[in-house]
Amino acid sequence: MRIVILTGAGISAESGLDTFRDAGGLWARHDLADLATPEGFARDPALVLDFYNQRRRAACAAKPNPAHAALARLQKDNGDQVTLVTQNIDDLHERAGSDPVIHMHGSLFGALCGACGHRWPAPKVMRLADGCQACGAGSPRPDVVWFGEMPHQLDRISAALARCDLFVAVGTSGAVYPAAGFVDLARDSGAETLELNLEPGDRASAFDTGRAGPASDLVPAWVDEVLGR
Ligand code: APR
Repeated sequence: MRIVILTGAGISAESGLDTFRDAGGLWARHDLADLATPEGFARDPALVLDFYNQRRRAACAAKPNPAHAALARLQKDNGDQVTLVTQNIDDLHERAGSDPVIHMHGSLFGALCGACGHRWPAPKVMRLADGCQACGAGSPRPDVVWFGEMPHQLDRISAALARCDLFVAVGTSGAVYPAAGFVDLARDSGAETLELNLEPGDRASAFDTGRAGPASDLVPAWVDEVLGR
């Protein structure tokens, strides 16, 4: 059975990382226009670098939870039948053993030069003064996808959705496209669709089945079902 899994901030919530749209989430405390847009970065690069330095520090201090571990187990047991796509920029899937992980919104652990497009591993703390390692231009940025920018690997994701038998969304509000539309692509290709979320997301009605609860309960139970345990 070919499975595509899409995860969002909710799968890392029990690891202590902030979500965006829950009460007290990042976009309840910060203006996303200042911190997650190219315009915001152009206005105040130091503010944006500091925001992502804080999130990188939090991600390094966090530990994968049973939901990340269960998805890694599923991937190990099912090889290339499982495509794991995440909107998250933390590395908890990788640290739980998942490989490959498609980071459609990029990663806290990558740096990107806005001038020449060069990419390199991000230092723990990115500073304005750190020029680009290739062209020397100033203010390199975190290699993350901001609002108004094109998410990564959409062709690969669409191809996987077109041929999957099951699409599962975990810990995402379904508020942001194109990820929020993956359920439609999967359904149109005849796949079954399942939402595993603390509470029904914005696209809940598009899913065949929805289970509400914390990811660290729902995901291991679901993986055990799939693995026939
Ligand atoms: N277990 C399962 N789901 C949870 C948990 C939990 N412990 N805690 C919260 N959730 C759910 C919330 O109910 C919510 O539906 O996770 C979802 C988190 O939604 P958002 O905060 O909107 O995060 P996400 O869906 O990943 O956001 C998508 O928006 O700002 C952009 O680029 C950012 O990738 C992000 C995108």
